[in-house]
Amino acid sequence: MEVLSITGGQRLFGTVRVTGAKNSVLKLMAAALLAQGTTTLTEVPDILDVEIMAELLRRLGCEVDHDGPARRVSITVPEILAHRADYDLVRRMRASICVLGPLLARCGAADVALPGGDNIGSRGLDMHIAGLKKLGAEVTNQHGYLIASTQQRLTGASIWLDFPSVGATETILMAAVTANGVTVIDNAAREPEIVDICQMLINMGASIDGAGTSTLTIEGVEQLEPVAHCTVSDRIVAGTWAVAAAMTQGDVTVLNANPAHLEAALDKLVSAGAQVSHVAGGFRVIMDNRPLAVDVVTLPYPGFPTDLQPQFIALNAIASGAALVTENLFEARFRFVQELARLGADVRTDGHHALVRGRSHLSGAPVEATDIRAGAGLVLAGLVADGITSIYGVSHIDRGYADLVPALRELGAQVERIEAESLFT
Ligand code: EPU
Repeated sequence: MEVLSITGGQRLFGTVRVTGAKNSVLKLMAAALLAQGTTTLTEVPDILDVEIMAELLRRLGCEVDHDGPARRVSITVPEILAHRADYDLVRRMRASICVLGPLLARCGAADVALPGGDNIGSRGLDMHIAGLKKLGAEVTNQHGYLIASTQQRLTGASIWLDFPSVGATETILMAAVTANGVTVIDNAAREPEIVDICQMLINMGASIDGAGTSTLTIEGVEQLEPVAHCTVSDRIVAGTWAVAAAMTQGDVTVLNANPAHLEAALDKLVSAGAQVSHVAGGFRVIMDNRPLAVDVVTLPYPGFPTDLQPQFIALNAIASGAALVTENLFEARFRFVQELARLGADVRTDGHHALVRGRSHLSGAPVEATDIRAGAGLVLAGLVADGITSIYGVSHIDRGYADLVPALRELGAQVERIEAESLFT
């Protein structure tokens, strides 16, 4: 088992480059299933989840060539696909559920293991299922699997989502692009990752109107063609670097990042006292003082992203003043504050609110990352805590942050990965 060991106190300074978004590329890989032939994706982050998705696609009958250092994946999709996603892969990565829509569209059937809940909450699938039923599919739950099937081509329908769910929007979109007739998804998610998949599907020959708005209108086409597509940059990784710059009173330029995708978060950093400026291909964050506390309310895009909430709790933990953080998407995302408290943070939670009273110092200690973003929050806290912070559960952080340690070192942080056993010898 590996541990991230961080000696806090260094100001981060320099330039860091962000790659494509994990939360886009996994769906783009699933979308490739919709067209026979070879689809190539670039700016693919070199993370384990991409390898898990590659393995899932191989088991469905695809040839997948994943070149990590070149940030490229090529997927060759055969004419006839298998349609079962097994529990052993789905339990390792719940995003595997995104093969449900494309498999149903391509094969008329999909058996996908139910992912269950995880460390950030219960994570329902009711809107995915209701949407597919509206398109004419039969969907049942048998022995831990979602079994979806249709005797004929899916049929376009009007679907109103109770909540602008990213996953449900993607499932319905990927099922509808080759359905018979027009599908309208109302109250659709508007995230940049949704726009990215719409752009790829349009290039594959799909007819989609309204990408990036709350209403997606999809006119089904007979067939899609494979394409080459460059993954949208990872706004959450970019935002994590921005918070790192602000917390360490540093000066960091983040490249291959789109500040327009991070307006809510960058605006909060300005309120915290940072100078944020746009540069060619990205943005720069400079901070000269201790941050001021900032209230945060998580909401679907373009609201403040839940995936940056732990990082902002970390910022507020060392800020001047007190802040109220409200989490509206994942009920268990505050679990990590218990770990932050081990570093001396003063955070009180009540339901979906957390009151964070800033402390002038945190003090390094061993802590455990329980999910990707909790891990990111703990790394940020470790960068400013006195002494050494040892973060267990590094595999969670690796799922979202490729090459984190070299990038942190390049910016001046004192950080290393060590075998946990060597801590006791
Ligand atoms: N929900 C339902 N029923 C559904 C679908 C969603 O109740 O049918 C609920 C969920 O339980 C949750 C809320 O709606 O409370 C939002 O879920 P959504 O479907 O929007 O999220 P997701 O597709 O499961 C993706 C990202 C998350 C990110 C959210 C919100 C991927 C693989 N995951 O999840 O990313 O937080 O959108 O932006 O794209 C992460 O990267 O750390 C992460 C958790």
